[in-house]
Amino acid sequence: MSREKVPPELTEAGGVEFHHVPVLLEEALSELCLVPGMRVLDCTLGGGGHSLAMLERGARVTGLDVDEMALEAASARLGGFAGFRAFRVNFGSIGEDDWMARIGPQEGALLDLGVSSPQLDRGERGFSIRRDGPLDMRMDRRLEVSAADVVGEYSESDLRRIFFEYGEERQAGKLARRLVQERDRRAISTTGQLVEVAESVLGRPRPGKVHPATKIFQALRMEVNAELERLQSGLEAVFELLVSGGRLLVMSYHSLEDRCVKQFITERLGRCRCPRGTPICVCEAKPLLKARGKAIVAGEAEVKANPRARSVRLRVAQKL
Ligand SMILES: C[S@@+](CC[C@H](N)C(=O)[O-])C[C@H]1O[C@@H](n2cnc3c(N)ncnc32)[C@H](O)[C@@H]1O
Repeated sequence: MSREKVPPELTEAGGVEFHHVPVLLEEALSELCLVPGMRVLDCTLGGGGHSLAMLERGARVTGLDVDEMALEAASARLGGFAGFRAFRVNFGSIGEDDWMARIGPQEGALLDLGVSSPQLDRGERGFSIRRDGPLDMRMDRRLEVSAADVVGEYSESDLRRIFFEYGEERQAGKLARRLVQERDRRAISTTGQLVEVAESVLGRPRPGKVHPATKIFQALRMEVNAELERLQSGLEAVFELLVSGGRLLVMSYHSLEDRCVKQFITERLGRCRCPRGTPICVCEAKPLLKARGKAIVAGEAEVKANPRARSVRLRVAQKL
């Protein structure tokens, strides 16, 4: 891509090291039914692993990401493909401003949700339980509220709600109370300090088991990045961009996301919504899509090679 063609939202390639192994790559390519020239919207560009494979098969890819580090790395990797362009925008906001017109109709769309390996692995991003760093967790560093702000300023009842709803943490109340007590004594501004407080309530990690603070980190990340709200509005906008016959692929990594995707699909299958016992259907529900019945999960070999694939669920729908 020549310098002039680089959209303003795309950070220049700067030799950023970014290593993320794309999950369910072959399955995603096959479900997209790629043909040369096909327009695909990669809503979660990350390191560009899925996009690279699509471009290599002749697709034209528009990549979106909110993380400048991901965009920089992906542009360095994919900038040589004439059919590639990228924008720094939240997929949950593309229904706003003139994004729909700028992106244009698409034959396929992929959402590979959550964070990338580099976001998780770099302590300074604040997503990692195992690497100490500032309690940040913003995928988009233009956001004003970080995880430290949430922990430092939210009321006890709001913290409890977030831990319970987004983390499905049974000890949400106890943890919220302890955090509020602790923050009155000292600011909780690093991931290490949060882990310490979480462990004092939830217990120490046991070898081979998921760290007890995992759900709390997930809950804070979802709150900071408004992940469920963005997913809902993003699905609606992306679906609108798809042409008839276009395919929507969503990879989720936890049950709350997957539930949201499943509900989005189910509501558009055109199932009758009349109350039970209504003799003739009056709701006039029309199918807007057809869907692959079951979610696709990763096989044993992929999980062994890439533990991130352990929890993935890929749902596929085709617009009618
Ligand atoms: C799991 S990674 C994608 C990896 C990518 N498929 C690959 O193969 O390299 C998810 C990426 O989506 C981005 N992301 C998450 N939520 C987003 C949103 N609402 N809008 C735009 N980008 C988002 C994250 O910043 C991250 O870079």
